[in-house]
Amino acid sequence: MTSLQAAVETDRKLKVYAVEKNPNVVVTLHSLVKLEGWEQTVTIISSGMRDCDAPEKADILVSELLGSFGDNELSPECLDGAQRFLKEDGISIPSSYTSFNQPVTACKLYNDIKSHKDLVHFETAYVVKLHRVARLANTQPVFTLTHPEHSDKPSNQRYKNLQFDIPEDTGFAGYFDATLYKDVHLGIEPSTATPNMFSWFPIFFPLRAPVYVKPGTHLEVHFWRCCGSTRVWYEWSVTSPSASPLHNTNKKIDLLSNSVKWTNNGPFLRFSRYAQAPTEATRRSKI
Ligand SMILES: C[S@@+](CC[C@H](N)C(=O)[O-])C[C@H]1O[C@@H](n2cnc3c(N)ncnc32)[C@H](O)[C@@H]1O
Repeated sequence: MTSLQAAVETDRKLKVYAVEKNPNVVVTLHSLVKLEGWEQTVTIISSGMRDCDAPEKADILVSELLGSFGDNELSPECLDGAQRFLKEDGISIPSSYTSFNQPVTACKLYNDIKSHKDLVHFETAYVVKLHRVARLANTQPVFTLTHPEHSDKPSNQRYKNLQFDIPEDTGFAGYFDATLYKDVHLGIEPSTATPNMFSWFPIFFPLRAPVYVKPGTHLEVHFWRCCGSTRVWYEWSVTSPSASPLHNTNKKIDLLSNSVKWTNNGPFLRFSRYAQAPTEATRRSKI
C-alpha cells in the first residue's frame, strides 16, 4: 500500500504482483484492491511464493515476513524461494535483518515456565512483552540474513558464540533490526528501536536453570539456527561459567507449528505456533 502511494507521489508507473498464500487474506486483498481502485496496477496471486509462477521478473521484492528474532518466521526460506522472481540486479526490501540477544533475569517468566514441570516449556522461545526483567548487558548481534542471496552455496544455517560480562541470568531476550533499503531501518533492538511501533514484542529464550555468574567472570552462550529438509529450529546453550544442557537439541520445538507443515507451498507460519508463557505473553498484533 505504501509502495502504491509512493508511486503516485513520485509519478512512477508501477505494476504490483501481490503473492499471498493465506486464502482468507486473499479475500481481504481482493476487497482492498476493489475499494482503492487498483485493478489496473495490482494482480493478486493466491499461492505460496516458493512455488507460484511469476508472469515477469520484478525490480523490487517487498516482503514483511519478519519475526521478533528476525528470521524466526522463516523469512529466509520464503525469500530464497521467491528470489527467482527477481531480476539479476533487483533489490529486496528488506535487504537484510539481524537478530540480537541480551541476557536477562526474568524471575516471573522463569517461574511461569517452570510451573509446567516439564522440559518442553524450557525448550521453547516465547514472544512476550517483557515486564519485570533486569537487562543484564547490552545486546549483541546474533544472525544476519541478506537478500537477494547470490552466493554459490547459499545456506541459512548459522552459529554464533556470544560472551557477556554480567551477574545472574535466567534466559535471553531476543530482538531484530532490519535494513529495508540503504540507511532505512526498522526494528525492535532497544538502542535503535523504531519509535511508536508495536507490531513486535521481544522473544525470550529460557534456560532450564538460572546461571550464576560471579563478578569478574563472563557468560558464554552459543546459538544455532539449524536447517533440515523439512524443519528449521534453534538450539542454545551456555558453556561458561558453568555448562547448561543444549536446549532444544531434539527439535521438540521447530519453527513450523505442528498444525502448519512445510507444504508444497513452502514454509508458512502462523503466530499461534509460539507457546505462550501463561501470564506475560501477548500476541503480536498484525497490522
Ligand atoms: C506478517 S504478514 C504481513 C502483514 C502486512 N505487513 C500488513 O501490514 O498487512 C505476512 C504475510 O505473508 C503471508 N505469507 C507467509 N508465508 C508466505 C508464503 N510462503 N507465500 C506467500 N505468502 C506468505 C502470510 O499469509 C501473511 O499474510
